[in-house]
Amino acid sequence: MLRRFYSRVIFPRLMDFSLNRPEVAELRKRILAEVTGDTLEIGFGTGLNLPHYPVEIHTVSALEPNEGMNGLALRRIRDSQIEVKHLHHDGEEIPVADGSFDSVVSTWTLCSVGDPPEVLREVSRTLRPGGRFFFLEHGLAQNPRIQKWQHRLTPINKIIADGCHLNRDIKSIVETEGLRIVRHERLNLKDAPRILGELYIGVAQKG
Ligand SMILES: C[S@@+](CC[C@H](N)C(=O)[O-])C[C@H]1O[C@@H](n2cnc3c(N)ncnc32)[C@H](O)[C@@H]1O
Repeated sequence: MLRRFYSRVIFPRLMDFSLNRPEVAELRKRILAEVTGDTLEIGFGTGLNLPHYPVEIHTVSALEPNEGMNGLALRRIRDSQIEVKHLHHDGEEIPVADGSFDSVVSTWTLCSVGDPPEVLREVSRTLRPGGRFFFLEHGLAQNPRIQKWQHRLTPINKIIADGCHLNRDIKSIVETEGLRIVRHERLNLKDAPRILGELYIGVAQKG
């Protein structure tokens, strides 16, 4: 009961506050600049990506299992020219036909999903041949000393941040059958602790 209240009411506000920053917005703009065609965003959250999609994007299918995110997303949806189609589902089971999208987007989401390989299988299934998966995620550091703290602190972080793992190797997760990484870069957020600020930004292509 308390856990559900935290997840639905408190966490969306904490998450929105911590990810609504200029440094993060710049990175969102950068990864979304090349998104084209029919687009799915997994873990839509409070709609922080919406203002950064290219003007050619008219519709985004927004997959988000936590209904508590919707209230905060509303204002951004109202302020946007983009039509948002809500899919209240987990990324492990996306309720659309094979090959429905040209682009799938995931930002700060693969850290939190229950079964990352299954989500990536679904991403691959729902992309058209040649379609692209755009990812901007935090995860496992390259430095072993930071990794050690990420492993230690993940159990407590999962409680505070609604299932978020600090120590996932995002590149390995994205390297799924059917998806080929065509671009990938590691970055550090300047204004975040190293355990949280180790980023993976990249694009994978189907086929
Ligand atoms: C840290 S928030 C990031 C939200 C948003 N992507 C952003 O960049 O601001 C993680 C999001 O992933 C969602 N999420 C958690 N488990 C999920 C799953 N199995 N499938 C899809 N989304 C999930 C959460 O509800 C939350 O909205």
